[in-house]
Amino acid sequence: MSEAVVLLNGELLPLSEARIPVLDRGFIFGDGIYEVIPLYNGKPFRGAQHLARLARSLAAIGIPNPYTESEWLAQIDRVVRANGLADQMVYMQVTRGVARRAHAFPKDVQPTVLIMTNPLVLPPAQAREQGVACVTMEDRRWLNCQIKSVSLLGNVLAAQYAAEHGVTEAIQFRDGYLTEASSSNVWVVRNGRVAAPPKDNLILEGIRYGLMEELCAAMEIPLEARRLSREEVFGADEVLISSATKELLPVVTIDGRTVGDGKPGPVFARLYAGYQAAKAAL
Ligand code: PDD
Repeated sequence: MSEAVVLLNGELLPLSEARIPVLDRGFIFGDGIYEVIPLYNGKPFRGAQHLARLARSLAAIGIPNPYTESEWLAQIDRVVRANGLADQMVYMQVTRGVARRAHAFPKDVQPTVLIMTNPLVLPPAQAREQGVACVTMEDRRWLNCQIKSVSLLGNVLAAQYAAEHGVTEAIQFRDGYLTEASSSNVWVVRNGRVAAPPKDNLILEGIRYGLMEELCAAMEIPLEARRLSREEVFGADEVLISSATKELLPVVTIDGRTVGDGKPGPVFARLYAGYQAAKAAL
């Protein structure tokens, strides 16, 4: 396969030639935000929603948005065409830019903008057919999880904890209540009803959160956003996780304990089918 091409500050470059100055505040402080958009057959899935979240993340940390939505789409299209893959995962990152190291925001600085793409590698069919395992841990991240910040150390440590346990995800709890997994949102199903933590500062509102709301409404599956205790998670009939790269997956064990009857459940099956239908309608 030929080398990947990335777009750095408006310039298309082979990945190996793309360089960031060491004083970039993304490198020095983790001072930036990112997005991950899945593309199917070259078309962004829920692109407008992803770009709206990107705009919210930028506004939350006071970085001017370098592009309008249509300019972002045009830039993404350049990278996507240059790489010529059917199903891709586009990664976009904006940092505050390059400046002498001082914590507070520098004046007159240009944001650094990177867009790159990788093949979209979805979970193997076995993960959907048999379900996946997760572990739980205390959520020790900061209190602005609604911002899709590149300061991801808390999420990195959670993902590593899952990897060391040989499982797919680490499901986090803060003060006894469910927040989210290291890089996915978590859904709890009981008696045919779906529940998820509220969209507040304790979780990243996944773009699939909105999709799940739409799918549940269309399928007349009750969905409520509320605080969920450990007991409710462990007592669920089904637990699901969602993200751009995992789509929707059923969780069948948590901390080695079986969820429901230990098999992917009927609510998962319906929502997953709805997800695939939404993709097909792109
Ligand atoms: N992560 N919560 C966290 C902490 C996440 O990092 C993600 C996604 C989600 C799900 O959001 P969405 O449905 O928009 O993908 C929830 C991406 C995939 C990543 O960091 O690679």
